[in-house]
Amino acid sequence: MPFPYVLLSAAVSLDGCLDDTGPERLLLSSPADFDRVDEVRASVDAILVGAGTIRADNPRLLVNSPERRAARVAAGRPEYPLKVTVSGSGELDPAANFWHTGGEKVLYTTDRGAERARRAGLATDVVALGPELDWRLLLEHLHDVRGVRRLMVEGGGTIHTQLLQQELADELQLVLAPLFVGDPDAPRLFGPGAYQGGRLRLTETRRIEDVVLMRYEPTAPGVADAVAAADRHWLALACELAALCPPSRTAFSVGAVVVAADGTELARGHSREGGDPLAHAEEAALAKIDPADPRLRGATVYSSLEPCARRASRPAPCARLILGAGVRRVVTAWREPDTFVTDADGSGLLAAEGAHVVVLPDHETAAKAPNRHLLPG
Ligand SMILES: NC(=O)c1ccc[n+]([C@@H]2O[C@H](COP(=O)([O-])OP(=O)(O)OC[C@H]3O[C@@H](n4cnc5c(N)ncnc54)[C@H](OP(=O)(O)O)[C@@H]3O)[C@@H](O)[C@H]2O)c1
Repeated sequence: MPFPYVLLSAAVSLDGCLDDTGPERLLLSSPADFDRVDEVRASVDAILVGAGTIRADNPRLLVNSPERRAARVAAGRPEYPLKVTVSGSGELDPAANFWHTGGEKVLYTTDRGAERARRAGLATDVVALGPELDWRLLLEHLHDVRGVRRLMVEGGGTIHTQLLQQELADELQLVLAPLFVGDPDAPRLFGPGAYQGGRLRLTETRRIEDVVLMRYEPTAPGVADAVAAADRHWLALACELAALCPPSRTAFSVGAVVVAADGTELARGHSREGGDPLAHAEEAALAKIDPADPRLRGATVYSSLEPCARRASRPAPCARLILGAGVRRVVTAWREPDTFVTDADGSGLLAAEGAHVVVLPDHETAAKAPNRHLLPG
């Protein structure tokens, strides 16, 4: 189920507000930051806002720079990103700027909302997702039907809250503006509810005039077979670790990371780590964790190649070590080929013992990269 890369973008006041309650939109960013936002818009395939933002701000959501638009066209892309909005009710003003500026538009809504939107004659494609709006269906549709690979979400708070709570956001770009709103009724960036337990990863801070841009990535693994955005980040790290392995003609180069349910990294490892020619990545990572650590039961093992089911070098294959450690979720990029062991099925062994195995084939190329010399063709 591939989804687009989902980038949440917002500006907030020092007291965490997205806007005030006045009739005009509150300008929180600085001019240079608005230009940065324009650059981000120019880089994506689609921009999404909620119906609440269309009603409150009447935004155009354009790429304003003619040079950036020209560069998009020169690269064979549409001049403007697709504009996407979400409404349960379908109650949207047909005269809003959103519909009459920029390129193509699409409204995702419910069956009931679609009837209303069609009756109102909105200048847009209308996609009904059923009696309720399901974000996973929406993202899948954007990916598969509209070809969206990068999606920028520009609010408001209701939308940001859901995408973060449902672990569908790959990145949060947050700008902190040096002013207070102070109004108890002003909209907030994030509402109450269940978020990931641990800390997000801070990937960048940048001063832009008098505002600060902070970029964060979520870290909490998905649950069971559900894929969270953070799963992709951790698996990408495992693939990077695979590139650190001392080269070998007789064994794969693999990277592994063990992550607790709240997104805390417990350990990482790679094949032949520390000069041990027989060490496997998952084995090396698990050896660094106290076997009594209670976080292992809810942890996920990320491995660039599926854990081995049989090995000649040591008594316990990695699939057994993972099960023995109490881990019941594994995310991998690549099923083991027959290079050294015929019909190795580490995933099957894990699944037979009740573990969830998630394969993310988007990362297979990266996982194979340090192993090309071992593969046919
Ligand atoms: N500072 C910033 O960066 C920034 C950026 C954007 C917006 N804002 C501010 O944010 C405020 C608007 O935020 P908001 O939270 O009120 O609105 P919003 O998040 O833009 O949109 C909420 C609306 O989207 C639809 N929706 C969202 N989730 C849905 C679901 N699961 N199922 C069905 N429909 C769903 C509903 O539309 P229906 O009501 O039609 O059913 C809902 O009322 C404005 O004041 C705006 O100025 C600030």
